[in-house]
Amino acid sequence: MSTPPIKLFIFGFSGKMGTAIRTSLPQGFQVIGGLSQKGVHILDTHNPLLSLCSQKKGSFGLHPIHQLTQLLQKNTPDIFLDFSSPVLLDRLLDTALLFQKPLLIATTGYTQKAKAKIKCSAKKIPILLAPNLSWGICILTQIAKQVQNALPNSEIVILEKHHNQKKDRPSGTAKAIKSALKNNNPHTQPHTLSIRGGNTPGTHELYFYDGDETIVLTHTALSRTIYTNGTQKAISYLLSHPPALYTMNDICH
Ligand SMILES: NC(=O)c1ccc[n+]([C@@H]2O[C@H](COP(=O)([O-])OP(=O)(O)OC[C@H]3O[C@@H](n4cnc5c(N)ncnc54)[C@H](OP(=O)(O)O)[C@@H]3O)[C@@H](O)[C@H]2O)c1
Repeated sequence: MSTPPIKLFIFGFSGKMGTAIRTSLPQGFQVIGGLSQKGVHILDTHNPLLSLCSQKKGSFGLHPIHQLTQLLQKNTPDIFLDFSSPVLLDRLLDTALLFQKPLLIATTGYTQKAKAKIKCSAKKIPILLAPNLSWGICILTQIAKQVQNALPNSEIVILEKHHNQKKDRPSGTAKAIKSALKNNNPHTQPHTLSIRGGNTPGTHELYFYDGDETIVLTHTALSRTIYTNGTQKAISYLLSHPPALYTMNDICH
């Protein structure tokens, strides 16, 4: 008998990332629905075109947002994914807590207060807070820490460039790298610069200015595939770990 697919529900169903995930997941994952500003999208399981292999062929019915809980009671996902907006945080946490299911939070732009709420909820369910799901960014951060240890007096600048529709600045990734490189010396605290333009998924450049020499580390996202690949790894990780707040650092070690 074949293993049933892992059922996913996406906050940010019809956005750029929600769409990338729905259209790229391999066999073994099934998007059962999601939330957007238009309402709750729920998979129509009676549609004859439905195929677990092709998320594109699933037909989704649209329902009012207030029916979310009721709809999820009929078909509960194994995990919730969030690629939406910080304004949805309360609804997102309440829903995942109500159904006691793991939560992957990929949305960026959360305040410290919002992060405290996420940390509190992670006492009850496994939560991954991942401002960047790419493996490369995880490796970049680890290498950056090594450079910082080797050049403790260097001045560090993080330059991030993203498409012109990105709402937050600096990017969640730049903030996460900055926090990873935070140190006790007020003269060597990393600082961030942002550029918005065009349609590019994202570039992060780390400059280590040390006297007469400079080291530059660059990560460029060439497509959203790096995030959908990271999403698959993150789902497997969350489904096999107990309640706690995780980061990509836990996964890519
Ligand atoms: N962690 C990572 O690796 C990673 C990678 C890429 C992006 N992101 C982050 O993921 C988030 C989404 O990115 P995106 O590029 O997919 O953005 P997007 O194209 O603007 O999509 C946002 C989605 O959220 C929905 N949404 C926004 N506000 C809502 C509300 N109040 N109620 C219900 N639904 C709402 C939108 O609904 P409509 O479609 O109806 O407008 C849309 O489906 C951003 O925070 C971005 O920084 C993270």
